Amino acid sequence: MQDPRESHRQPSVQGSRIDPYVDSYAARAQGMVASEVRALFAVASRPEVVSLAGGMPNVGALPMDDIGGIVQQVVAEQGSTALQYGSAQGDPVLREHICEVMAEEGIEAAADDVIVTVGSQQALDLVTRVFVDPGDVVLCEAPTYVTAINTFAAFQADIRHVHTDGDGVVPEALEEALTRMAAEGRRAKFFYTIPNFHNPAGVTLSAERRRRVLEICRRHGLLILEDNPYGLLRYDGDPVAPLRAEAPDSVIYLGSFSKTLSPGFRIGWALAPSAVRAKLVLAAESAMLSHSTFNQMVVRRYLATHAWREQIKDFNEMYRQRRDAMLGALDALMPAGTEWTRPDGGFFVWLTLPEGLDAKAMLPRAVNERVAYVPGTGFYASQEGRRNMRLSFCYPTCEQIREGVRRLVGVIEGETALRDTFGGMSAPAAAGDDTPFPDLP
Ligand SMILES: Cc1ncc(COP(=O)(O)O)c(C=O)c1O
Repeated sequence: MQDPRESHRQPSVQGSRIDPYVDSYAARAQGMVASEVRALFAVASRPEVVSLAGGMPNVGALPMDDIGGIVQQVVAEQGSTALQYGSAQGDPVLREHICEVMAEEGIEAAADDVIVTVGSQQALDLVTRVFVDPGDVVLCEAPTYVTAINTFAAFQADIRHVHTDGDGVVPEALEEALTRMAAEGRRAKFFYTIPNFHNPAGVTLSAERRRRVLEICRRHGLLILEDNPYGLLRYDGDPVAPLRAEAPDSVIYLGSFSKTLSPGFRIGWALAPSAVRAKLVLAAESAMLSHSTFNQMVVRRYLATHAWREQIKDFNEMYRQRRDAMLGALDALMPAGTEWTRPDGGFFVWLTLPEGLDAKAMLPRAVNERVAYVPGTGFYASQEGRRNMRLSFCYPTCEQIREGVRRLVGVIEGETALRDTFGGMSAPAAAGDDTPFPDLP
């Protein structure tokens, strides 16, 4: 990746007729470009295409009548508050409920240390805004959540990846990265991690590794940014305590209602040590003054009156079936040389293609065969991930998932035959090939 301190690209000669302000943008806006595969995803959203690409939760399974009733009650009973400005820290009662949600995963927290955010995405933005100057190092897993990369890049961070495997981030790789940086006389601002049911890798950081990661970060004085939108969506195995539960002073923890309730409310949160939380509130104030009071009051009433734990259990049963449909189809149909992760929860499977195949180059042919996925390159700030793709099982039905995998297998077999005839992927990725896909959750 280009050194962000040098990201002031050569100015264009005189703007352009399409965008007369092209020379006026801040350096940080230079990297904000639409993905060249965006057009393909427009095609991929056609009904005949089975999309294993987007990470959209299946909100159709929500109790719509109940939610409609709650909306009406909020307007009728609390309208003058719900339709008014609120605070940048978020509704205090909602923050109490958020503490109850976090307690489900073993976190003890005070509502005062919680800030409500516009999805956890805004929390990512605020934390980066508060901590990162251009050129500062941010460590994150390899691969990692695409829109986190976009956010770090927007603040001109020097994004460095740390190797992960089937048990999450590899502690030795983290230690090595930190030692290398110390030798360079540099320090990372934070380590961004998605310990549960990783997006895109599907893997979960083991309990043993969590202890080691905490120990390493403590020794190096490194702040952890723990992003946990999927933690309650567990289909197998025992829960593992969040990093925040063990180290309240050195972790900023992010949560969200997007996957366990609905992304439409755009409500997430950050739980941070008090001084950091105060900075985040100030940053939120300048970003958006106050939250949607209305949405917060709807979610707050939902949590107070609805059996939300049961709702999550229902979601988990539905997603478990979809995950099993995907893993079953992959086990039955994928050709030799293809590998994939086996998530215990969340939405994603990370697939590695046989040697010599390129997931991004293959995407147009896949869409032509009416199946879509996200190529792996978008999940790295570097040129890695060409043999990888993210498959999501959250949105399509079990039947669609099986059909999607069947089509994908046909495409992979066709590519393998081409590779055997003409040789494999050898051309270097074209410029901009690592552009993330800003539209995808
Ligand atoms: C790992 C991760 N973090 C953050 C987000 C942002 O979610 P939201 O802003 O909807 O809470 C997502 C969305 O898919 C995600 O997968």
